[in-house]
Amino acid sequence: MKKIAIMTSGGDSPGMNAFIRAATRHALDNDIEVFGIYEGYQGLIENRLKQFKRASVRNIIQRGGTILRTSRSEEFMTVEGRKKAAANLDALGIEGLVCCGGDGSYAGLKAFASPGSEWQGSVIGTPGTIDNDVKGTDFTIGFDTAINTAMHAIDNLRDTGDSHQMHFIVEVMGRHCGDIAEAVGIASGAESILIPENTTNIDEIVAEIQTKGHNIIVIAEGDEIGGAYKLAGILNEKFCGTSYEKKCHPNFRVCILGHIQRGGIPSARDRILAHTMGVKAVDALMAGETLKAVAVQRNELVLTKL
Ligand code: F6P
Repeated sequence: MKKIAIMTSGGDSPGMNAFIRAATRHALDNDIEVFGIYEGYQGLIENRLKQFKRASVRNIIQRGGTILRTSRSEEFMTVEGRKKAAANLDALGIEGLVCCGGDGSYAGLKAFASPGSEWQGSVIGTPGTIDNDVKGTDFTIGFDTAINTAMHAIDNLRDTGDSHQMHFIVEVMGRHCGDIAEAVGIASGAESILIPENTTNIDEIVAEIQTKGHNIIVIAEGDEIGGAYKLAGILNEKFCGTSYEKKCHPNFRVCILGHIQRGGIPSARDRILAHTMGVKAVDALMAGETLKAVAVQRNELVLTKL
């Protein structure tokens, strides 16, 4: 393995820069040339590659987002697009590709480098997404920072909730996965947590509200209810004209945290995870592995099938 390329793909997540830094420097320390691919798979198709030196990744370990930038590419889902990408890597003599991203990014690697596909080089995936929804790994890069960001936001809401006896419905990210909602809900002492994996019982939530004072409800964006505004509508209607309303004046306020959760300074935990995963990904390429993913399982770094 003499030349490798590194990319980030899909939604950005805090810690991706620590990953880029570690993978780059570990490869250079092993006399491997490194190329950064800008803007994910689309950048690969459009040949946006740049050779990296040690200094190319200096002073980025503490920064959120990704210096390589990222994208979601429809063109890479076509054979034509992948052929262009393969030709760009081959022209530079690149033999290995490391990609940090979510499940869509992994699907891209598989389509690109499976036997009989467009590219003959080796590919290793590394899980980078705040959603913590990549199969085979207990944690993804960015999850820890995202839940801390959301927890601090809810701590602030609690001050107002307590002062005004207000109820807050906080919507967090997670289209198909309730990990963020669950972790944040527990860490911030939410009274109810709504996640896509569970059926939601409105009557139970109503009963919780009636027995408690100010109330924090955390809902994942992908919950079956259809989001925080829908839930607020249902609850406002449920309490309208009831004796509870007369006594407590419930007013369900909505706060959607949105992309606030994707940015920000990565936590120590995410930096360490990203660093060790970046090193492991390069080690895997050097060991001749392909179509594998770096994962953490029961506190151990392992390689799984992509
Ligand atoms: O995949 C991570 C994620 O943060 C999801 O939780 C969210 O639904 C999605 O990205 C939003 O991404 P975008 O703004 O890029 O469409």
